[in-house]
Amino acid sequence: MAFVVEKKWNDAMKIRVSRRSYDSRTVEARKMEALSTLARSINELGRGVRIEVIEGDTSGIFRGIVGGYGKITSTGQYAAFIGDSADPDAERLLGYYGEAFILEATSLGVGTCWVSGTFNPESVKAHISLRPGEEVFSVTPLGYPTEDSSPVERLAKFVVRSEKRKPSASILDGDLSAIPNWAQAALNSARSAPSATNRQPWLFKWTKDSMTIRVRGTGKRLIQDCGIAMLHFALGALESGIAGKWEAGTDSVVAIFKPD
Ligand SMILES: Cc1cc2nc3c(=O)[nH]c(=O)nc-3n(C[C@H](O)[C@H](O)[C@H](O)COP(=O)(O)O)c2cc1C
Repeated sequence: MAFVVEKKWNDAMKIRVSRRSYDSRTVEARKMEALSTLARSINELGRGVRIEVIEGDTSGIFRGIVGGYGKITSTGQYAAFIGDSADPDAERLLGYYGEAFILEATSLGVGTCWVSGTFNPESVKAHISLRPGEEVFSVTPLGYPTEDSSPVERLAKFVVRSEKRKPSASILDGDLSAIPNWAQAALNSARSAPSATNRQPWLFKWTKDSMTIRVRGTGKRLIQDCGIAMLHFALGALESGIAGKWEAGTDSVVAIFKPD
């Protein structure tokens, strides 16, 4: 099955939140198979990044509280987002395709949380072998979240103010009212993208008939966050009837969205 951006991810995008506390229920084989199928379609693109769906002992995967983050309860099921750290495209692609995977899980009613800081890559290596140059960029638990937020979860959300998003006008370099309605809607969708510590390190700019995205700020793996926002933008555009493609940018431009 070839990878396609699914319209149903638009609904998922509106309800997705990071979940860090899970109960003991395991995700059914049918749903794990659907996630594996999507992962395979991404891996078969041959773009140097891959997603592995893993079932095994997750007790060593998620680390304790670091920088204010609560420890994620292990579930026995998770996915790893893998790329070559020397590949300049890996971050952008893993952000984009990783978020597709996260939104597919959300569509299936499966809880997730992007984790690029509070996990132990060595424990992942006990479950899968990495090729030379490959690195585990992030992981996500897969499971059924507890009905109520646990105290660690509430703490993690409080520390990073996870519900707050920058207004559209502040993530656009230019006049918001001067861009087409579909681009305004797409920008609004990009706002809901998750990012590490909720830093939202992206800046969009409208030029003639396309949208560019740049990194704003300094830090590690900012382009991965931009990749996530790129998928949200494309989904928002699609909902307004505009299909298009992100092309890799040059210099400080991470990518350019061109309507078809
Ligand atoms: C690339 C990336 C890495 C993240 N790493 C961690 C992490 O190491 N630990 C953690 O608890 N949350 C992590 N998060 C979750 C963010 O804190 C969360 O997405 C953000 O606060 C927005 O909240 P929301 O996902 O509920 O909308 C990460 C998110 C992203 C996108």
